[in-house]
Amino acid sequence: MNAVVASAVPTVSSILAGRALADAPGGRLTSVNPARLEEPVAEVLLGDAATMCDACRAARDAQPAWAAIPAPVRGRAIQQIGRLVEENKEALARLVTREIGKPYPESLGEVQEIIDTCNFFLGEGRRLYGQTVPSEMPDKQLFTFRVPVGVAAIITAGNFPVAVPSWYLVPALLCGNAVVWKPAEYAPATAAALAQLFLHGGLPEGVFNLVLADGPQTFAGLERALDAGLVDKVGFTGSSQVGSEIGALCGRHVQSPCLELGGKNPLVVMPDADLDLAVEGALFSGFGTAGQRCTSLGTAIVHESIHDEFLARFAAATEAAVVGDPMRDVLYGPMIHQRFLDRFLEWLELIQPHHAVHGSTGTGRITAENPRAGFVGDPDAGIFCHPTIVSGVTAQDDLYKLETFGPIVGVAKFADFDEALALANGHGYGLSSSIYTTNPKHAFRFRAGVSAGMVSVNNSTSGAEAHLPFGGNGKSGNGSRQSGIWVLDQFTRWQSMNWDYAGKLQKAQMDVADVPAELGFRLEG
Ligand code: UN1
Repeated sequence: MNAVVASAVPTVSSILAGRALADAPGGRLTSVNPARLEEPVAEVLLGDAATMCDACRAARDAQPAWAAIPAPVRGRAIQQIGRLVEENKEALARLVTREIGKPYPESLGEVQEIIDTCNFFLGEGRRLYGQTVPSEMPDKQLFTFRVPVGVAAIITAGNFPVAVPSWYLVPALLCGNAVVWKPAEYAPATAAALAQLFLHGGLPEGVFNLVLADGPQTFAGLERALDAGLVDKVGFTGSSQVGSEIGALCGRHVQSPCLELGGKNPLVVMPDADLDLAVEGALFSGFGTAGQRCTSLGTAIVHESIHDEFLARFAAATEAAVVGDPMRDVLYGPMIHQRFLDRFLEWLELIQPHHAVHGSTGTGRITAENPRAGFVGDPDAGIFCHPTIVSGVTAQDDLYKLETFGPIVGVAKFADFDEALALANGHGYGLSSSIYTTNPKHAFRFRAGVSAGMVSVNNSTSGAEAHLPFGGNGKSGNGSRQSGIWVLDQFTRWQSMNWDYAGKLQKAQMDVADVPAELGFRLEG
């Protein structure tokens, strides 16, 4: 019986040029279900820096032939990948829930986001438009073309283990690049499953490579690959700290990476807001995915006239929310991985005596000794945390300034609109933001004043649609944008062409016809 259970746990490894590697130079680990720590999800063979570098070489070798395939045909591969993901939607979503603990309906939504992304980009294969541009001179024509960047190394986090990678991988491939994908170590089985769907969708060997490795080995391998000229674009979703290290590394190679980093996303509640709607939005964006989205709500910034009422309703809704087994009907399940639990417990220490705590029957890890009312399932089997609302937050608090990845939401008070805006921006992050108001003037002034790359009006800070630009500013990113037509600028470069058929050298700026005018002319009177 034991042997049967043991053999049911799959082994996953890096895939280079279509070949699954059988060795583990970076060591081994077991991926476990965070809702049931005793349940292994996969045995993982980790690669090392050389694996990362070899994967980039495999991609480099395969890329020119892929780029030579007409873009509409590459779009066909994207269509097939999207269809395969759709056919395997429930299986992939179940794996997402098993490996990182996201509630099953959210996992289904996450898989849908891949399908939406494929649906958008399969048609882009028939566009990828360039332009015809008029020349200054006769018998000369100007053009622009989008050309693939080359090899894209994509490094992603595990909180959106398949949707966010697809935001990079799908457009990168469609544009004619080869990719090396390094997913989070704590979502390897999910990554291996998505890799299979990509590989079965018709990508030639080497165009899509998977590297399972830890962060330091990946960084070392990336550095080596950049030194060897094997990488042309890096995409990274993760912490601001690692993002700045990757930015520095790429900068040394005169490259600008696509960085999607942390957030401290504000949700402003104006006195004219629909309070129940604001509470619903705060609950979903604060505690959905146990607060482990980069778009999760950081601080609710609430007008003083409605602050107490909002807080009372938000606390009541949070107390009533169901936490527990992510396959059941819950607001959120476990922390993604032990390391997220450990960091979350440290962030709870940011709570100061001038704060008040609301929302649950305890703080920290939910256990039989530290129970949560209404918990669904066995809390001791997994790594679940109490939702925590902290009121009395001010701009001086670390809780206001730092991203806290987990189920904790600050509540701050403001007196006038400018103060709300200052609080929305003052931490230096700039990913997502939200305002609840019934006054268009407030909504548009907020949009114009907030530093975030994404603004919601009467909607939560999370829940971006897959075809609108996604990305941040300041500590949240370097201004790069994913999704929709905007991400094309990450994975292609503009090439301009001029074609002179005059049969003589026509010099720009110098051989240009004049248009005589009487610039001294004035109207009478
Ligand atoms: C992330 O947390 O890295 O808008 C991405 C959202 C999701 C994506 C979040 N569609 O919340």
